[in-house]
Amino acid sequence: MTEAILLVGGKGTRLRPLTVHTPKPMVPAAGVPFLTHQLARARAAGVEHIVLATSYLAEVFEPYFGDGSSLGLHLEYVTEREPLGTGGAIRNVAAHLHSGPEEPVLIFNGDILTGLDIRSLVDTHRTSGADVSLHLTRVEDPRAFGLVPTDASGRVTAFLEKPQTPEEIVTDQINAGAYVFNRAVIDAIPSGRPVSVERETFPGLLDAGAHLQGMVDSTYWLDLGTPQAFVRGSADLVLGRAPSPAVPGRCGDRLILDGAEVAGDAKLTGGTVVGAGARIGAGARIAGSTVLEGAVVEPGAHIQDSLIGAGARIGARTVLAGAVIGDGAVVGADNELRDGIRVWCGARIPDAAVRFSSDE
Ligand code: GDD
Ligand code: MG
Repeated sequence: MTEAILLVGGKGTRLRPLTVHTPKPMVPAAGVPFLTHQLARARAAGVEHIVLATSYLAEVFEPYFGDGSSLGLHLEYVTEREPLGTGGAIRNVAAHLHSGPEEPVLIFNGDILTGLDIRSLVDTHRTSGADVSLHLTRVEDPRAFGLVPTDASGRVTAFLEKPQTPEEIVTDQINAGAYVFNRAVIDAIPSGRPVSVERETFPGLLDAGAHLQGMVDSTYWLDLGTPQAFVRGSADLVLGRAPSPAVPGRCGDRLILDGAEVAGDAKLTGGTVVGAGARIGAGARIAGSTVLEGAVVEPGAHIQDSLIGAGARIGARTVLAGAVIGDGAVVGADNELRDGIRVWCGARIPDAAVRFSSDE
């Protein structure tokens, strides 16, 4: 197993306050662009050649990762003129693959944090003799995912992307966004038009009698599609719950990057990351949060499960819980911002302007 395709074309609109200029795969998680973790994990599993299939804000990947040699990889970049969908993106990079028709090619959604044993997915593929093998995981609410029922031998019996009706929810097994395709299956995807691998390729292969094999596995798994999930994922990387060789430093309660200044009595817990050049004031308490580079948290602020953008400023005694604060935004002192709030890049909230709890 030597090569893989990484799909990094989605807009990641739900992280919008932070991603106006930064596509989601480049937002730092545990101190490095999220994509670094996926690349490093693939390398650790023996992958040497990875093609990034990009569309939106594609131009930021290559200047950062270059030819991949710093990660021990050979990286190539292919940019779609118009987004081609997941299947179209896979087909669009086929000319860059080196594998023969019956050889396996790994494919990864670019927004997944997982402890998947990549080698064991490839082994499953080889031993089952499948055309395509899929990593499956179990979730409580499968509606936002692709449902993948299997028979007793693990063979996929249907693929139901984003089920709309209760009758369609036939399993809690979902597509976890990591596949092994035989090269010939990639070449058979129609070229030059958008194709959804989930809505068109997988159902079409099943109708044609192809062998799709599922590998259910209960390792760590998270789709980083929402800001809350992104913050959770970053914290889990720091805590060591989500394994990645790319975490810069030892795993533990916190990760403080070089050049950050943290007051002696500030309390950082739950996998909090403090980026380079960020400053954390006296008595601040920060749990399970990501503070990006150059951000300032003033004394006495309480921050939980939140994402603080680069260069943003959080005023004294302000409380944040489940908040996303865009790059360069300023939240004044004595505010209280809660679940789901997203403050846009550069926006300003005056002192004592927003509260949720009573004034007692
Ligand atoms: N190059 C390229 N071009 N990449 C794309 C395009 C495109 O047009 N559209 C989506 N992608 C990439 C995204 O960047 C992401 O990494 C991956 O393909 C999946 O797209 P999402 O938009 O994140 O899909 P989803 O999360 O709603 O659903 C997918 O992932 C689930 C698991 O998280 C599906 O594969 C589901 O079946 C699956 O359960
Ligand atoms: Mg996704």
